[in-house]
Amino acid sequence: MEKIVEFQKVTFQYEEDPNPMFEDLSFSVEQGEFVAVVGASGCGKSTLFRLIHQLEEPEEGHILVGGKEVKGQKGYSGFMPQRDLLMPWRTLERNLALPLELKKVPKGEQKRRIQELLERVGLGGNGGKYPRELSGGMRQRASFARTLLSGSDLLLLDEPFSALDYLTRVSLQEWLAEQWESLGKTVLFVTHDVEEALFLATRILVLKGRPVRSLESIPVPLPFPRNRKMLEAVEIQELKERLIAGLQEERRDEEEK
Ligand SMILES: Nc1ncnc2c1ncn2[C@@H]1O[C@H](COP(=O)(O)OP(=O)(O)OP(=O)(O)O)[C@@H](O)[C@H]1O
Ligand SMILES: [Mg+2]
Repeated sequence: MEKIVEFQKVTFQYEEDPNPMFEDLSFSVEQGEFVAVVGASGCGKSTLFRLIHQLEEPEEGHILVGGKEVKGQKGYSGFMPQRDLLMPWRTLERNLALPLELKKVPKGEQKRRIQELLERVGLGGNGGKYPRELSGGMRQRASFARTLLSGSDLLLLDEPFSALDYLTRVSLQEWLAEQWESLGKTVLFVTHDVEEALFLATRILVLKGRPVRSLESIPVPLPFPRNRKMLEAVEIQELKERLIAGLQEERRDEEEK
C-alpha cells in the first residue's frame, strides 16, 4: 500500500503558546484508509488537519502528501472544517459553484457537476434552497459535497457530525460509509465519539500528551460493509472501553495541570 500522508519528525507550536503542540511527530496514512482521529478537546486534532492542509506550517520536520513535500503543492486535500462552510446568502447551488468559479470552470460544466454532486449526496432538487432552509443533516451533506469539489483524493473531515442529533448522526454515519466505499478516497475524520470511530474507521489514531510526540494506532478489526450489530462483538466493546478509559485519563491529566 502506498502512503498518502506522511509526517516526518514534525514539530509545531502556535506563536501565542508557551509549549509546542507536536514534537518530532511521525506517522503515516495509507491510500484508501478511513482513519478516525480521536483525543481530548484541545489536544491538537484540528491543528493536525490545518498542518496537512497548509493553513499552518511546521517549525521542523516534513509533511508529505503523495510522497512529496506539501509545500509547493496545491489542491491535494479537501478540508471540511469543524464549522460549516456554507455561505448563508448563497443558495446551495451557488455555494457549490464557488470553488468551481475560482477554478474558472465553464458555466455549463459547473451546472452539470453540481447537479451530479447533489444527486450523489442525496440533495437532488434542493439546489435552489438557502442553507437556513436545510436541516442540520442536509447542511452537513452539502458541506461534504463542497469538500468533494476539491477533486482531491484526500478528505479531511473535522467533526462533521458532532452538532447533529443522535438519529441524524447515525444515519449520516451510514451514509458516509457508503460514500467512502464508492468514492475510493482516503478519509481522515476527527471525532469525539468513540462509537462513531469504531463504526466508520479502518484504523483509529489517538492523540495524547502535551506535546504530542507519537500517535497510538489502533486497527478496527471489522470487515466492510459494516452494520451496527457488529459493534456489539465482545472485542469491539472491550476496545471501546479501552479507548474511553484512555481519553478520560488524558482529561484528568489536563485538569490536574
Ligand atoms: N490559531 C491559534 N492560535 C493559538 N492557539 C491556537 C490556535 N488554534 C488552536 N489553538 C490552541 O491549540 C490547542 C489545540 O487546538 P485544536 O483546535 O487543534 O484542538 P482540538 O483537538 O481540535 O480540540 P477540539 O476537540 O475542542 O476541537 C488548543 O489549546 C487551542 O487553544
Ligand atoms: Mg477541533
